[in-house]
Amino acid sequence: MSGRDLSKIVHVERMCFEGDAAWDRRDIRLFLKDKASRILICETGSQLIGFMFYRVGSDSFQLWHVAVHPDYRHQGVATELVNTLAGEMCESKMCRQRITTVVPSSDTSSLRFFDKLGFRAVSIVDGVVTSGDEEAYVMLLDPVREPMYIHRLTRYFREIALE
Ligand SMILES: CC(C)(COP(=O)(O)OP(=O)(O)OC[C@H]1O[C@@H](n2cnc3c(N)ncnc32)[C@H](O)[C@@H]1OP(=O)(O)O)[C@@H](O)C(=O)NCCC(=O)NCCS
Repeated sequence: MSGRDLSKIVHVERMCFEGDAAWDRRDIRLFLKDKASRILICETGSQLIGFMFYRVGSDSFQLWHVAVHPDYRHQGVATELVNTLAGEMCESKMCRQRITTVVPSSDTSSLRFFDKLGFRAVSIVDGVVTSGDEEAYVMLLDPVREPMYIHRLTRYFREIALE
């Protein structure tokens, strides 16, 4: 990733997350040191409008940050980022994988956002996301079972079935 891309991501991070929750260049470099780490970005022209940090695990994809520039919200950008990941999972024959994320229980807007995308809370953990011991929900999306993804993913299943 170029230094310019990194600067754009840090800029959007600051608009999307408060205080220490916004990652700086060092945090992002540290995240990317893990070979399983990926960043998917969405741009219009030279403007970075959204991105998603995630890790490819052995049986799931773990979402870290999903962020969309405030000027471009409620236009489906974040939904498209998650859809793209679900599509990539199937293209790379990992259809049986799930997407997980951890959301603090007080972050009601993120909970609503992930709920709208079909994520379901499957367990509760303490002190994982925020400092202190705030409860957080482990949320899981199983694209294969979620009705809103089934139609979209059908073509990937067909492509795989043809091989
Ligand atoms: C959450 C966020 C990524 C959503 O991005 P977006 O591109 O606006 O999301 P979408 O347009 O794909 O939204 C899909 C649906 O999710 C729900 N949703 C989106 N943002 C929401 C919010 N802030 N509060 C409650 N529900 C929300 C809505 O139902 C929305 O559908 P609608 O616009 O038809 O009502 C964006 O608001 C953001 O960057 N927030 C700050 C960072 C953050 O909290 N990230 C999530 C945790 S890592």
